[in-house]
Amino acid sequence: MCGVVAVIGKQNASDLVVEGLKKLEYRGYDSAGIASVSGGALHTIKSEGKLINLIEELSKVSKANLQSDSSIAIGHTRWATHGNVNVKNAHPLTSESKVAVVHNGIIENYESIKNQLISDGYVFKSQTDTEVLPHLFMKYIKLGNNFLQAGRLVLKDIKGAFAFVAMSLDFPNELFVSRNSSPLAIGLGEKSNFVGSDAHSIDHLTQRIIYLEDGDHALIDLDNVRIFNINEENVDRKIINIKAEIGLITKGGYRHFMEKEIFEQPSVIPQIISTFIKNSYEINIDLNKLGFKNKNTLLISAAGTSYYAAMVGKYWIEQLADLPVIIDLASEYRYRKPSVFGQSAMLVISQSGESLDTLMALRHGKELGLNTNAIVNVEGSTIDREANYSLYTRAGAEIGVASTKSFTSQLVILFMIAVALGKKFNIVTQEQLQKICSYILSLPSAIAEMLNMENEIKSVAQNIKNAKSIIFLGRGLLYPLALEGALKLKEISYIHAEGFAAGEMKHGPIALIEDQVPVIMFLVSDGNEDKAISNLQEAYSRGAKIILIADRDCIKKAPFAHYKIEIPNFETDFKSLLSPFLMAIPAQLLAYHVANERGTDVDQPRNLAKSVTVE
Ligand code: M6R
Repeated sequence: MCGVVAVIGKQNASDLVVEGLKKLEYRGYDSAGIASVSGGALHTIKSEGKLINLIEELSKVSKANLQSDSSIAIGHTRWATHGNVNVKNAHPLTSESKVAVVHNGIIENYESIKNQLISDGYVFKSQTDTEVLPHLFMKYIKLGNNFLQAGRLVLKDIKGAFAFVAMSLDFPNELFVSRNSSPLAIGLGEKSNFVGSDAHSIDHLTQRIIYLEDGDHALIDLDNVRIFNINEENVDRKIINIKAEIGLITKGGYRHFMEKEIFEQPSVIPQIISTFIKNSYEINIDLNKLGFKNKNTLLISAAGTSYYAAMVGKYWIEQLADLPVIIDLASEYRYRKPSVFGQSAMLVISQSGESLDTLMALRHGKELGLNTNAIVNVEGSTIDREANYSLYTRAGAEIGVASTKSFTSQLVILFMIAVALGKKFNIVTQEQLQKICSYILSLPSAIAEMLNMENEIKSVAQNIKNAKSIIFLGRGLLYPLALEGALKLKEISYIHAEGFAAGEMKHGPIALIEDQVPVIMFLVSDGNEDKAISNLQEAYSRGAKIILIADRDCIKKAPFAHYKIEIPNFETDFKSLLSPFLMAIPAQLLAYHVANERGTDVDQPRNLAKSVTVE
């Protein structure tokens, strides 16, 4: 999604902005731009595609002209919403070469504003919704308003979710910023201040961060940051000290961030486990804070991979705690009038903590009177700040667009919640709890063993890389894994892939089976495996290329499979309960290797963004 960076009060501000934009690259973007003031003029440089193109453009411009005496600059990476991907639509958008704005989000009422501005004589050069912002600033400045007054008038005109930074030649030592639903952080420096879409984008400049709240606006110069709330009252917002995450943007010898993040799982998971398991047999989660009243229904809402984690969580909580769980796609929940009958608590799940759909679902749940909890990876993110209670996956920065280590980390917390609830409601005994804890403690080594299957998975990837469409199947706890496997594969390899509950095949999807269509099934012995194998046999009989990823017993029962990947044998009473952890690994590795074989941009797949801050 779009990224915003601004610097005021530092020489070579443009270079510092570019450094910040590099840190936002992982979010996904299709064009980039920068504006700075020097020699009494506003200079704007934009380019399509990757930041390297912008850097080349910048180097073409004489330093004297653009950068050397510039101590104010704003920059942007754009993820197109309104208007094609081209230089004209890239940000900053300007008005009369005097005002420049960078913006993340959508101005929903831009069309009526645009029509009015056109009749006022303003000329639009882009197809974006954003361009109304610089023209509105220009209009109000021309009417004699100072920058703060002009910004406030702009805010009165616009509706939507946004975070923007504006600069003007008439006020060359000030930045005006505002946020509503889209994230924005302000960094405090010495005789300098900074703005970024997240704290990481400016952590090379400062570690003192203020997060604006929804409806806030601020006027920033090199000495001061004056923040005002929606009622234009001067407010203080908390200053947070962040630790710069050294080495965050290195791939550590791996070819892609995604590969690195997949292989980080055996070291990330023990850290989460150690936060939640005490004395090897006690789960350290404050269930009272989660807001359960008796055995009320729990609502879980999320998007994408986080939603599939929620699905696994539902199965676990229902099975281990006998507690009803409703799961809802965040993008759907917000726009319904859901019944909260029998509900007291809501849990949202988000790696970034910034997915707008999930944030809006959380707010909707809050309005409906639910106690809101969150599982997030990014501490200090908007969802973390707005939830009543947060549980942190602490998986470290996830840069690849595809969620990998954050998925398994979310699963760990969901499993802990399920077990803790099971214990609270006397469904899980103390003896079982101890056994489960001891298995959980051995999970990292089980995941490490799964990673050793990489070569086998790579050879399957080579065999299916040219498929037009791929079907993933699973039953029970492995049904969400089939959905996750398909999502992972399609988002980075661009091959059409669908996940189905194996038992549903005969109700429609089996019509898709034709000669050589790959059908991938995740399976472990859970007492229902024979039924799943029958479903697989039905696909085989119709010519499908069968790939079975399963334990030894299941593999023996399906000799007809074309490719059999046997998962290591884990001796535990809870093998099927814990199978989602194990199957997440082949699902990720398969998607990664198919994408690699096809030569796609694994870390920044087309059209996608790491944190989806539009609806
Ligand atoms: O940051 P979030 O967990 O809220 O993100 C939700 C989805 O956008 C995300 O999981 C997406 O589906 C991933 N790219 C999947 O790999």
